[in-house]
Amino acid sequence: MSSAQVTPTPFYQHAGITVYHGDCRQVLPCLSSASVDFVLTDPPYLVGYRGRWDGDRRGIAGDADPSWLVPAFAEIWRVLKDDSFCISFYGWPHSDLFVGAWKELGFRLVSHLVFVKNVWGLGRFTRGQHEVAFLLAKGQPPVPARALSDTIEWQREADAFHPNQKPVVALRPLIATYAPEAGTVLDPFMGSGSTLRAAKDLGLAAVGIEVDGRYCIGAVGRLAQEVLFRLPRE
Ligand SMILES: C[S@@+](CC[C@H](N)C(=O)[O-])C[C@H]1O[C@@H](n2cnc3c(N)ncnc32)[C@H](O)[C@@H]1O
Repeated sequence: MSSAQVTPTPFYQHAGITVYHGDCRQVLPCLSSASVDFVLTDPPYLVGYRGRWDGDRRGIAGDADPSWLVPAFAEIWRVLKDDSFCISFYGWPHSDLFVGAWKELGFRLVSHLVFVKNVWGLGRFTRGQHEVAFLLAKGQPPVPARALSDTIEWQREADAFHPNQKPVVALRPLIATYAPEAGTVLDPFMGSGSTLRAAKDLGLAAVGIEVDGRYCIGAVGRLAQEVLFRLPRE
């Protein structure tokens, strides 16, 4: 913890899972350097998304303005241990901005992941059926014992807590493969807490940050459910 920073009060803290309600650009500076083992995150795609969800057409914070991109990932770089991985989803229309920011900060692009959905969206030129993420390396992380396929199945979850919710089942293999056992996972754009739920299912500690309090409430509801069966890593 930096001496200049005031520790934020967690919105939720239990059994190794900590949620902060706030802007990650303000909360991350309060975390110690090199204190997390793996980052799995899903930042705004910069596409001005306004999907129909829950009878609402609410927008996503930060989705129309890239000013958070470099400051947030600079902090992600600082809190991530050397020789570790970061997986970040991104919006392909602005892949240049995302890739430019990551490279500028020192991340190496070591693989690219495609998530193939079981549902098709509407579209103009094509109908969207996939999401994308980069596997980024800080330093030289160890090659995993069993590399994952770079194409991952995506089944939409029945319970909706967030308009951009990522399925926990699709996230678990990423944590199991690229986070060390008993490590701490960070998601500074937590939304409904899918990354934290996946980490909890695998018995890892996790820290999440979310600027929109409505999603923090949904996330806590998901995270409060205890793990009935600890899932194996493979
Ligand atoms: C694409 S969504 C993440 C959805 C999440 N993966 C899930 O499964 O629910 C991005 C989230 O980042 C949040 N966000 C945007 N800017 C932020 C910031 N500066 N700090 C923290 N959270 C932020 C948004 O409110 C939104 O919930």
